[in-house]
Amino acid sequence: MASSILSETYTLANGVKIPKVGFGTWQIPQAEAQEAVYNALSLGYRHIDTALAYQNEQGVGAAISYSGIPREQLFVTTKLPAETKTYAGAKKDFETSLKNLGLDYVDLYLIHAPWPWAKRGNYDKENKEVWKAMEEIYQSGRAKAIGISNFGVPEMKNIFAGAKVKPMVNQIQYHVGYTENTITKFAKDNGLLVEAYSPLATGRLLQDPDLTAMAEQYNVSIAQLAIKFCLQNGVLPLPKATHRFHAESNTQLDFTISDKDMDKLNSLEEE
Ligand SMILES: NC(=O)c1ccc[n+]([C@@H]2O[C@H](COP(=O)([O-])OP(=O)(O)OC[C@H]3O[C@@H](n4cnc5c(N)ncnc54)[C@H](OP(=O)(O)O)[C@@H]3O)[C@@H](O)[C@H]2O)c1
Repeated sequence: MASSILSETYTLANGVKIPKVGFGTWQIPQAEAQEAVYNALSLGYRHIDTALAYQNEQGVGAAISYSGIPREQLFVTTKLPAETKTYAGAKKDFETSLKNLGLDYVDLYLIHAPWPWAKRGNYDKENKEVWKAMEEIYQSGRAKAIGISNFGVPEMKNIFAGAKVKPMVNQIQYHVGYTENTITKFAKDNGLLVEAYSPLATGRLLQDPDLTAMAEQYNVSIAQLAIKFCLQNGVLPLPKATHRFHAESNTQLDFTISDKDMDKLNSLEEE
């Protein structure tokens, strides 16, 4: 039976419901994506996070199609590559993603980052242009919600200025020891849902001695503790797991971290 957390949702500013735990797919190669995502769907995950840059959208789409799950029961996010910083480029890349996924709409479309990965800098003008394309995609109904990823406070303010549609989500790196409090607070205060990418610090948290002791107290794994931590902070975790038993245990979250332990976890800083 699917874990109950998988049927719980947050509600975005535009009223769209989004399952509280998503399945991350970064670094799952195309050839393995179909099996990994199919496993996740069969375990009850209904929220899948991919990106054009992950080069696995076709595998994700194949799993969705093979699963036979009605489209309206799924929540699919993909992302506009960080390198695409023009209106026309955004429109074109969106079409490519839909084609790769074999879908006629996505539930959430995000700008992957405010700057191309290899060339950080100020892209305020370009991000405004790209946001116009995102708004049009949203207004066409082919993305049920739109948002941003890796945006700091100044980059968020830039998008808000002059936006007809405010982003509904900011997907940022977020895990025990790395909670980006200023960005998280600003996003939440402005009505954005914060999604936690790398909620297990891409696996680095799993050997953490502080967390080992606390996880033992609750009789859970570090992964379960770290995912629950995100949820208790009102953030949406996107754990990635190619191993089915990892994907399954990551949804067994029927415990509550005490306020004292949440304070402790919130005060930890990554070394
Ligand atoms: N927007 C962005 O710029 C951005 C950047 C990074 C990530 N993301 C999104 O966030 C998702 C998650 O982040 P992430 O991929 O960095 O990794 P993560 O979820 O923090 O950690 C994944 C790693 O932890 C392992 N793992 C998962 N569950 C486990 C468990 N219960 N016990 C032991 N090990 C476990 C996985 O192993 P196995 O795979 O072997 O099972 C994998 O090695 C990504 O997949 C992607 O969708 C977005």
